[in-house]
Amino acid sequence: MYAERVLSGMRPTGALHLGHYHGVLRNWVKLQHEYPCLFFVADWHALTTEYDNPHDIEKNTWDMVTDWLAAGVDPNQATLFIQSKVPEHAELHLLLSMMTPLGWLERVPTYKDQQEKLDSKDLSTYGFLGYPLLQAADILIYRADKVPVGEDQVPHIEFSREIARRFNHLYGREPGFEDKAREAVKKLGGKRARLYEELRTRFQQEGDKTAIERAHALLDEVQHLSLADRERLFGYLEGCGKMILAEPGALLTEASKMPGLDGQKMSKSYNNAITLREPAESVQKKVRAMPTDPARVRRNDPGEPEKCPVWQLHQVYSDEGCKEWVQQGCRSAGIGCLDCKQPVIDSILREQAPMRERAQQYAEDPSVVKSIVADGCEKARELARETMRDVREAMGLEYH
Ligand code: TRP
Ligand code: SF4
Repeated sequence: MYAERVLSGMRPTGALHLGHYHGVLRNWVKLQHEYPCLFFVADWHALTTEYDNPHDIEKNTWDMVTDWLAAGVDPNQATLFIQSKVPEHAELHLLLSMMTPLGWLERVPTYKDQQEKLDSKDLSTYGFLGYPLLQAADILIYRADKVPVGEDQVPHIEFSREIARRFNHLYGREPGFEDKAREAVKKLGGKRARLYEELRTRFQQEGDKTAIERAHALLDEVQHLSLADRERLFGYLEGCGKMILAEPGALLTEASKMPGLDGQKMSKSYNNAITLREPAESVQKKVRAMPTDPARVRRNDPGEPEKCPVWQLHQVYSDEGCKEWVQQGCRSAGIGCLDCKQPVIDSILREQAPMRERAQQYAEDPSVVKSIVADGCEKARELARETMRDVREAMGLEYH
């Protein structure tokens, strides 16, 4: 139940760019070898702001998933799915909405920030206010303990933890909990039971975090427990009732420092991006057209790399030798700007080559992407269904 699991979602913005690759996708590709991973398209989240123009969402979804695959996200390692194809997310969102104080939602910092930022749009909607709660449902429904996100999303992860805690507090109680928990401890067997008790005491009296981690590991090892007993033992450790929903943690993704063609952060809205599968000629054209140090009007005017966006790309892509060559050549006017740009172009093309190759098969037969996602949706749904059974049970909605 508390097995390590990674979950992350992305709103379907369409074709991704190299900033997404350096910031997010490379991290996903790494994580998929380390943990069971679930990655999904947050299409309902897109609707919270694009409700007046939903028609691009589908195409954006397929383009984006193709880019994930092109970047090396491996459907044999990670589960890829679409949020709206797992309608259990909506059920959990609804049930959680019953116990979510309005003030908690209004105080999530992204709420006012985004409303102000997108002020051309009317975002005083029910759905937009509920954005973080839908995200909490996305996370809690998989009992995911690790959520890789950027800094901007950290308040949403914290909000999800609070929701999990409130849910467990409200619905994790049962008559005779303490007695049942003690019975469950006995079922661990003599040696394990003693260790569990010891770790529990250490956590509750000294707040020893490693003790709780060891206790979780111990419970993960035990095979013969019923689900109800597991929930009791997890809850009993922390001194609350049953732990039906797990509290997730953020796995902070370092902010992408990927510069765009103009030296600002790479972003679709700044129109300074190179897409993941940008055709080679277009990469060449865009980099060649990049502005450079304005002091280099003529070929023999010396320049300063610090004043040039091309230099920023060298810092991402070039080795020490090449960077030295740029520093020297720029300051002495020994090289021209087009010479200087060539290694950057070469590096980008080299980085893109395997992506282009992987994308080839999907472009030839789009049904492959669709069937990968269909499989992923099935797998995700199974996990989601399990949680929903426990949630309904806890809330008295099972109708046995
Ligand atoms: N809000 C996230 C973003 O804008 C996308 C998202 C939706 C998400 N649900 C999630 C991310 C669950 C992580 C986990 O980037
Ligand atoms: Fe920029 Fe390179 Fe030209 Fe110098 S030589 S201004 S670093 S592009």
